[in-house]
Amino acid sequence: MVQTASPTFSCEDWQKGYESLRTERSYWIDEVEGEIPIALEGTLFRNGPGQLDINGQKYGHPFDGDGMICAIAFKDGKAHFTNQFVKTPEFLAEQKAGKILYRGVFGTQKAGGWLRNIFDLRNKNVANTNVVYQGGKLLALWEAAQPYALNPKNLDTLGLENFEGKLEAGKVFTAHPRRDDRTGDLWGFGVQPGPQSKISIYQVNAEGKLSTESQVTVSGFCFLHDFAYTPNYRIFMQNPVSFKPLPFIFGFATAGECIELRPNTPSQFLLVDRQGNLQTLETDPCFVFHHCNAYEEGDEIIVDSVCYPDYPKLEPNTDFRNIDFDRVVAGQLYRFRINPKLGTVKRQLILERSCEFPVVNPRCMGQKYRYAYIGAIAKESGNAPLQAIAKVDVETGKQEFHSFAPRGFISEPIFVPRDHHADHHAAEDDGWIMTLIFDAAHNRSDLVILDAQNIAGKPVATLHLKHHVPYGLHGSFTDQVF
Ligand SMILES: [Fe+2]
Repeated sequence: MVQTASPTFSCEDWQKGYESLRTERSYWIDEVEGEIPIALEGTLFRNGPGQLDINGQKYGHPFDGDGMICAIAFKDGKAHFTNQFVKTPEFLAEQKAGKILYRGVFGTQKAGGWLRNIFDLRNKNVANTNVVYQGGKLLALWEAAQPYALNPKNLDTLGLENFEGKLEAGKVFTAHPRRDDRTGDLWGFGVQPGPQSKISIYQVNAEGKLSTESQVTVSGFCFLHDFAYTPNYRIFMQNPVSFKPLPFIFGFATAGECIELRPNTPSQFLLVDRQGNLQTLETDPCFVFHHCNAYEEGDEIIVDSVCYPDYPKLEPNTDFRNIDFDRVVAGQLYRFRINPKLGTVKRQLILERSCEFPVVNPRCMGQKYRYAYIGAIAKESGNAPLQAIAKVDVETGKQEFHSFAPRGFISEPIFVPRDHHADHHAAEDDGWIMTLIFDAAHNRSDLVILDAQNIAGKPVATLHLKHHVPYGLHGSFTDQVF
């Protein structure tokens, strides 16, 4: 019999984390429990939807929220907070109009029903998914457009980044680039979807110069949110989705709502080698947003990914704030063993508990690794909002958790090595896990710093912000202090 665990949260608490934050601020964080390590030096950048409504007109999906960057800079045991919205022309126009002018990709329609939305196929660039610092450039990323360049010192928006014309108009850049720590190169991709989808693979070097490594064409509609990287392969999971655009074109549904998982259809790994050769391998039907890491070992490529049994979408006209978590499909961490020579893929469950936002020590990107850090629910089974940080030893299977339930809700963890300049002799888990927590009890957010070697233990430091930060998406840490 299935045991239903008692709820670990209240819906009212969880919903409060989706209130818009309209203020932009810059201040020293003076309320700190514990101590910020003196050795912790650098800047944490976070991106996510800062505004989820305009004048009370609600967006239909959190992924349609306006991108807001938070920067928390650490030096000498002190921390400074700054936040700013990415000032895209669409954001500025909507702020001026005081109402929704654009349809969102995932769930937002203009008011007035389908007649106000029909044939309006423009996408609002919300620049809300990730933020990375590469080659002196701070880039706010959203996968269906070029990045927005920002001033890393004050988060002012500088404009669309086309990398000296190398990322031409109409080309897009993923929200999930991966940095190879050994070379300093940031690898990314862009997809032009269609009946035939074209994937371009990009390299941005340590000086911030972009070049195109290869282009491959695959049959079918591609929804590729993330990719996995190894020194010799760029690896994509082609989810078996179809896109039926008519409801979108005629204004009844948003583009994201027209995506469906084709039943009983295998997923496909697309392996692209450095020469641009494409190999396609089938695996069990599933949907993947995020990969944790990948590496090459003997004849095999290991890829660890969060897999869903179905495409986790909202039905049109449902309020995401009122979702029933018991009916939401849960993501679980799986290991895929791909053998390109034999053309085989084997899949094995690593973390059964519902989870998302997997990360590793940045030095392990594309390399054999031992520890995955990931957001998880605060109970063993079923589904719920993410309220815990898990550390998974992928060698032994050991799992440890730090739970913030019942009133804390976590965001993506970020691993920060204790010594960025160590030549890889330090233990892989010698460092800190940082995550922004929405604390419903105080209606504010905390930046929590955990010791990665003692993740279940008391936090090293809890930094209380003066306000909340709506649930975010992705971010990164740089050892530069801004
Ligand atoms: Fe993502």
